[in-house]
Amino acid sequence: EKGGYDYFMLKEIAEQPQAIADTLLGRLSDRGEIVLDEVRLTDQDLRDIDKVFIVACGTAYHAGMVAKYAIEHWVRIPCEVELASEFRYRDPILDRSTLVIAISQSGETMDTLMAVRHAKEQKARVLAICNTNGSTIPRESDAVLYTHGGPEIAVASTKAFLTQLVATYLIGLHLAQIRGVMYADEVAAVVEKLRSTPDALRELLNSMEDVRALARDLKTASTVLFIGRHVGFPVALEGALKLKELAYMHAEGFAAGELKHGPIALIDEGTPVVCVVPSPAGRGVMRDKVVSNIQEVRARGARTIVIAEEGDEDVRAYADHLIPVPHTPTLLAPLMTTVPLQILACEIAAARGHDVDQPRNLAKSVTVE
Ligand code: M6R
Repeated sequence: EKGGYDYFMLKEIAEQPQAIADTLLGRLSDRGEIVLDEVRLTDQDLRDIDKVFIVACGTAYHAGMVAKYAIEHWVRIPCEVELASEFRYRDPILDRSTLVIAISQSGETMDTLMAVRHAKEQKARVLAICNTNGSTIPRESDAVLYTHGGPEIAVASTKAFLTQLVATYLIGLHLAQIRGVMYADEVAAVVEKLRSTPDALRELLNSMEDVRALARDLKTASTVLFIGRHVGFPVALEGALKLKELAYMHAEGFAAGELKHGPIALIDEGTPVVCVVPSPAGRGVMRDKVVSNIQEVRARGARTIVIAEEGDEDVRAYADHLIPVPHTPTLLAPLMTTVPLQILACEIAAARGHDVDQPRNLAKSVTVE
């Protein structure tokens, strides 16, 4: 049932191109609008929204962080992301014009469900992004967009994450279109880019041998740090989370710009630092800033593992290990840059002799608060 793979996790990583394609399938109407599954919200409801809150836990929360960048950029309304476990205790300001997006693979995570209930009590509109048909969170929400990732068995979330990203991109584009911020052809252009990601991802998955070798090399590291900027920041957090939960190693993700405000003191001779570099196209300034952060950590002895776009030859000089990924527009880049980090964590865990699919102390779905 593992389809020839040693672990469900590796099978699910390999399924990601198909999972993305399936999540996109049939989601665009003839008029170029995004089709939601079960919608008890009208276009007018969505036009009336003046604020978005995303609530989620763990990996789904990282998808929400990426979504914030996309939604604010495309829709031009404020979007906050919150850990579901913190949301209701903070007494957030919610009303009819607030859209709460709950992201959950299982649809049963208690913290996220409680956040949904709190949002509904406050009359907010709730839209679920979920991978499990008929689960509790979509049942209690006003609308649902299902990620068609298929069952995810491994405790560590992989294909659910990428499909959650795709779902949030679709929602962002839909909101932008019905609110008149983007034209149908602009939306269709981004959807076209999304449609090309499965092929790019297949290409990337075929070039992961070096990452496997690197994993064997890193298995005795005492800590691994991850840095990124913009959408690369949640990718850094996701890379660190995967390593913690699978390899039981100390790992931390940082916004690259925060390094000099404290964390750079952690860098010692040989400390592995995984650096997620933005595309040189588009927002070149951001890419240059990350490159100077890489130089800073390297000057202090770090061993740099650099994830950068194919053809970005200049970064080679600062990379002890270079992991090239195919080009994607900036906001969509996490669909590529996350994947080597999933493989890295999986292979390090396997090299350390851990149960990759069932890490200690963890459950696939956390149904207690
Ligand atoms: O089912 P959910 O998406 O609500 O689960 C949320 C988290 O528990 C989950 O993403 C967890 O962080 C994963 N094990 C991470 O790989």
